[in-house]
Amino acid sequence: MSETAKIELDGKVYELPIVRGTENEKAIDISKLRDLSGYITLDSGYKNTGSTKSAITFLDGEEGILLYRGYPIEQLAEKASFLEVSYLLIYGNLPTQIELESFENSIKKHTLVHEDMKRFFEAYPAKAHPMGVLSSMISSLSTFYPESLDPNRSAEKKNLTVHRLIAKLPTLAAWSYKNSTSHPFMYPRNQYDYVTNFLYMMFSMPTEDYSVDPVIVSALNTLLILHADHEQNCSTSTVRMVGSANANLYSSVAAGISALWGPLHGGANQEVIEMLEQIVLDGGNVDKWVAKAKDKEDPFRLMGFGHRVYKNFDPRATIIKRSCDEVLEKLGINDPLLDVAKKLEKVALEDEYFKSRSLYPNVDFYSGIIYKAIGVPTEMFTVMFAFGRLPGWIAQWKEMTENKEPIGRPRQVYLGSTCRNYVPIGDR
Ligand code: CMC
Repeated sequence: MSETAKIELDGKVYELPIVRGTENEKAIDISKLRDLSGYITLDSGYKNTGSTKSAITFLDGEEGILLYRGYPIEQLAEKASFLEVSYLLIYGNLPTQIELESFENSIKKHTLVHEDMKRFFEAYPAKAHPMGVLSSMISSLSTFYPESLDPNRSAEKKNLTVHRLIAKLPTLAAWSYKNSTSHPFMYPRNQYDYVTNFLYMMFSMPTEDYSVDPVIVSALNTLLILHADHEQNCSTSTVRMVGSANANLYSSVAAGISALWGPLHGGANQEVIEMLEQIVLDGGNVDKWVAKAKDKEDPFRLMGFGHRVYKNFDPRATIIKRSCDEVLEKLGINDPLLDVAKKLEKVALEDEYFKSRSLYPNVDFYSGIIYKAIGVPTEMFTVMFAFGRLPGWIAQWKEMTENKEPIGRPRQVYLGSTCRNYVPIGDR
């Protein structure tokens, strides 16, 4: 006998199916509730709404657990490469050596972008935020590959679109930075691995030989893995929502990039550094800024603190914090921002306001310090997040199209005026 939940409305009892996930997450399937009873459920911000059944990522916010396809984030961050994790997320299993090589080679084949796309960059103002540029460029890819417009093509053709996107995003991301500095674009060099190739396109100059410290490559690899997926967050839900209308992958991911840009989501990593810089400039009085964050009359929040799902600790923040210490030590960097960050963390973690609301440092609290240490400019931080989140967006979009999920279309409770007659303008 399958389990059911009973709900009583207007004196009538309705039985609704209960769904249990593999990690024993429980849900009441209310999809037929309106048809049966005329009621909908109301849940602004989807705080308590499961929008899909997914086999990609599991997270337990109370216990601080994050698994990609069943593998703990701690193990993947320590042992795997970012492309290996991308393969895992998108195709469901860790690749064999042959599968990984074939995946890497396919990505390498597509790292160049169409030369005409280079001309788009010329039209952007010098101060264009790279997230705005990246989102437009990713959407524009659909115009160069019109065959990608049908998301329900054969698996082989869908793969081609997926590989093109993974290959071209780092090139476009690096070029959006080069454009902002008016420096020449560097073409990809496919003898490098995926992460090194991105760093090469970002930081090399045609006038100089290029070499990169392996500590930097390794730190970036870890950061990208930590960002690779996070189940139904704001940008991923956006990708799924746009994709549910049968929109193509490029446009769906471009929409995800726009959602990620928001300071309450991925844009927080830029905001954290700007906040730390402001505190340092202001004399480093951490208590004053903690008090501001607690003051309900003051809109200021401690950026990099709090999470919709993690209410104990963010396991990604724990790994990043360690990685941050290692990178700064190995590169011999003494960053005053890190001292302020550590003080802020200590004060906030001991403060009743933060404790009672379960507000802990999230992944964005430390990631910016690492990006800064490896030379990534502040405006590029959220682009780095998008770079990392790409395989997750692709995996979720792919799962949604393969499961033939219906178009996303929530209901509402209408609170506006009831029906009234039009009044000619002179009589109003
Ligand atoms: N500083 C001060 N107070 C806070 C903060 C903060 N960073 N975050 C939440 N609160 C308070 C909030 O004012 C509210 O207090 P009260 O109960 O007295 O009204 C309470 O904590 C609950 O906050 P909420 O806004 O209802 O929680 P939420 O789940 O809707 O928001 C959040 C989650 C991440 C948007 C929020 O914690 C926040 O704005 N944090 C700062 C931005 C940030 O770091 N974002 C990155 C998130 S991690 C990356 C990602 O996955 O996107």
